[in-house]
Amino acid sequence: MYRKQTCGELRLEHVGQEVTLAGWVQRVRKMGGMTFVDLRDRYGITQLVFEQTEGNEELCEKANHLGREYVIQAVGKVSERQSKNKNIATGDIEIIVSELNIISTSEVPPFTIEDKTDGGDDLRMQYRYLDLRRNCVRKNLELRHKIAFETRRYLDAQNFLEVETPVLILSTPEGARDFVVPSRMNPGQFYALPQSPQQFKQLLMVAGFDRYFQIVKCFRDEDLRADRQPEFTQIDCEMSFAEQEDVIQMFEGMIKHLFKEIKGVEFGDFPRMTWYDAMKYYGSDKPDLRFDMKFVELKNETKDYEIESVLPAGQFTVFDSVPYVGGICAKGCAGYTRKQIDALTDFVKRPQVGAKGLIWVRKNEDGSIKSSIDKFYAPEVIAAICDKFGAENGDLMLILCGEMRKTQKQLCSLRLEMGNQLGFCDPSKFVPLWVIDFPLFEWDEETQRYYATHHPFTMPNPEDIPLLDTDQGKVRSWAYDCVINGVELGGGSVRIHDSELQAKMFKLLGFTPEKAMQQFGCLINAFKYGAPPHAGLAFGLDRVVSMFAELDSIRDCIAFPKNNQGRDMMMGAPGPIDQAQLDELQIALNLTEE
Ligand code: AMO
Repeated sequence: MYRKQTCGELRLEHVGQEVTLAGWVQRVRKMGGMTFVDLRDRYGITQLVFEQTEGNEELCEKANHLGREYVIQAVGKVSERQSKNKNIATGDIEIIVSELNIISTSEVPPFTIEDKTDGGDDLRMQYRYLDLRRNCVRKNLELRHKIAFETRRYLDAQNFLEVETPVLILSTPEGARDFVVPSRMNPGQFYALPQSPQQFKQLLMVAGFDRYFQIVKCFRDEDLRADRQPEFTQIDCEMSFAEQEDVIQMFEGMIKHLFKEIKGVEFGDFPRMTWYDAMKYYGSDKPDLRFDMKFVELKNETKDYEIESVLPAGQFTVFDSVPYVGGICAKGCAGYTRKQIDALTDFVKRPQVGAKGLIWVRKNEDGSIKSSIDKFYAPEVIAAICDKFGAENGDLMLILCGEMRKTQKQLCSLRLEMGNQLGFCDPSKFVPLWVIDFPLFEWDEETQRYYATHHPFTMPNPEDIPLLDTDQGKVRSWAYDCVINGVELGGGSVRIHDSELQAKMFKLLGFTPEKAMQQFGCLINAFKYGAPPHAGLAFGLDRVVSMFAELDSIRDCIAFPKNNQGRDMMMGAPGPIDQAQLDELQIALNLTEE
């Protein structure tokens, strides 16, 4: 037997017992006639003691030559420590070792296996198996296991069946780019890796499975960010005979269950906000509601969004020449210095934000008002601006202008920056929200056509079906996102289950009947054989875990993640393949030099 106990379980009550432990050497310290070894395994750290006494020289000599990360087995007696270590669970005891076996030696690791390691990102990713030995990284994976386990427990109790769907599927061009896999047996043809099991789960509903879920790998060849990986995991779900309200109730229940079981956090009902309001007041379809700071519009001449302006025309050309002027009110920030406002101006002018400049109005503590547009407008106008913001003494208003959507996005960045600066973005505070009533279509300036905001199977709000032929851009969908702290954790929709309406959607999205048949034929045909009404959604497991762990990036809760270039630094993937493999696949490379 390699071990009889773990390195995390021994306490004062075990004093006097003979134990056998096995694990990795964290540290070796020689002090006077004693050698101390910190032995680590998944469960904790236990101190081993080797006493330099007569007859014990050989054992001590062996201990003195242990290197970091050696794998050893130690047999000994549990003893109460003279100086206790309050920082670890086993800190009251130590093991007086009588037998030491070196199971495996180790080279000096390229970085220290400590919570605060000296290893940089690249090095840690290259030696991820060593990085994973670190307590803080291992904890994230334990949490991931727990969340997946509790998810299964909740869904099982609600009669959901976990069904596996294929990984080699047909490529469909909607959404992100596919990763493709050549087929040897069908030269010139390719599988795609699923961006999500969307069509399969809908087919399972046609098949009568009624309630499906799957914790499943999905693949998207898109640009990476802190909350995106090329392969990630979804908690993918679908329900038959269900409406939007059923799905929202069911999965609000799941999120509440996870928070309660794992974090001990209890929520009331999640608030809901229409997409329209989310954009108007927060400039984002995933507003962070840990703080308020809603947008206030001073002018909006955008079609369908017009408001009466508080800015008289003909006085300030910058505001005159744009359709939209809006801003935020930072409570208690009137005391911001020139330098602080300049820094905010630089922030909004960064290419990532893209504003041309920042206008400010201060309502000072004494009630006096000062602004960067004092020379353009009469004091009554500036006072009217303050009123529009509902500003109180001591508040600072920050204003941007331009085209509506662009400016809302810029204001969103500014609002989040202010939220951060003012300490409103506490990662241990959780504010959930459902965003509903997404538009069914999104206009793309570049290709001058509409795309499905969610995906082509999403049900239009029946009230808006007449608009499909007259004003596509205004059609609302039965789609919903679950957002916490400004992170889109999950999203889904009620599906179209009527083949005629589905055919119409494909047509509106620019698919010829042949192309629609080629790509979605299976689903179109299946709907001819009795399709139940159905709806579903998918959560990003990685995002859920990183939110629970209060991490900045989803990478830290994935055992073997990819870097920002989509590379696996440890295995070296992606890599070239042999000419013989290429020949077998009948693939000729046509690489051009960069
Ligand atoms: P959607 O594309 O919104 O919907 O994805 C659902 C959830 O998956 C997570 N997610 C990601 N996580 C990490 N890295 C990525 N690259 C990534 N892309 C998405 C997000 C997101 O909310 N089939 C539909 C769901 C449905 O309609 O039922 C779908 O995939 O947390």
